[in-house]
Amino acid sequence: VDITVLTLFPELIQDALGKSITGRAISDGILNLHTKNIRDNAMKAYAKVDDTLYGGGTGMLMMCDPVYNSYLEVVEKFSKSDKPYTVYMSPKGRVFDQKKAIELSKKDNLILLCGHYEGIDERVIEEIVDEEISIGDYVLTGGELPACVVIDAVSRMLPGVLPNKDAYEMESHMGDCLEHPQYTKPAVWRNRKVPEILLSGHHKKIKDYNRLRSLYETMVRRPDLFEKINISNEENEKLIKYVKDTRKLQE
Ligand SMILES: C[S@@+](CC[C@H](N)C(=O)[O-])C[C@H]1O[C@@H](n2cnc3c(N)ncnc32)[C@H](O)[C@@H]1O
Repeated sequence: VDITVLTLFPELIQDALGKSITGRAISDGILNLHTKNIRDNAMKAYAKVDDTLYGGGTGMLMMCDPVYNSYLEVVEKFSKSDKPYTVYMSPKGRVFDQKKAIELSKKDNLILLCGHYEGIDERVIEEIVDEEISIGDYVLTGGELPACVVIDAVSRMLPGVLPNKDAYEMESHMGDCLEHPQYTKPAVWRNRKVPEILLSGHHKKIKDYNRLRSLYETMVRRPDLFEKINISNEENEKLIKYVKDTRKLQE
């Protein structure tokens, strides 16, 4: 996938994504990440990218032209048929989730537009943006961190970025449940033991046990997700027994 971030702070994007797994995806050519500095298209006379609000109000708003001209410089490199899908990072957008990460990872070309200050003049958003995405119900100072969040989540879904499908298919939000708790060596740490069944080497039993713990985690931590799970009678009975056993142990 080819992603261009339109931003006033390109270094924030490069610094955050140039390392570790995303950094490797970039150097391996799986993720083509570009940044376009909107300030390069500042209004010539005073290097301006923002101005005061019509109708009053505090703060400054990013102006249409610097954003639009930056956008045009990016899209002119693409033919009409592979015009990039343009996303504005915005607290007013639909809240980002794993499903959206998978959907975006299937696009060939993406533009992520980052606002700053009070945001961006509505008219240029109407002109160029296909979708607005929020990373949660809170307000940040700029769209750069949200863009990095989206790019990180998208890049993990690109073939070749993670070692194999198992590396992410069992993870939280990939299926219907949150991921079960996980353990590594040593088998006993500060008197806390790794559940014995995980040391048994019995793959079927381990799989069933992990599924049960996944269901339990989801029930306790995210009842909203738990409600939507299509749980079989057999699983339900096992879960009730697991809850009772766990409570007894805690008493
Ligand atoms: C201070 S915010 C502007 C908030 C805007 N005035 C409002 O009330 O909706 C500046 C920029 O940060 C980005 N931003 C802030 N919070 C965000 C969030 N939760 N998700 C995505 N982008 C966000 C957007 O790009 C936005 O243009």
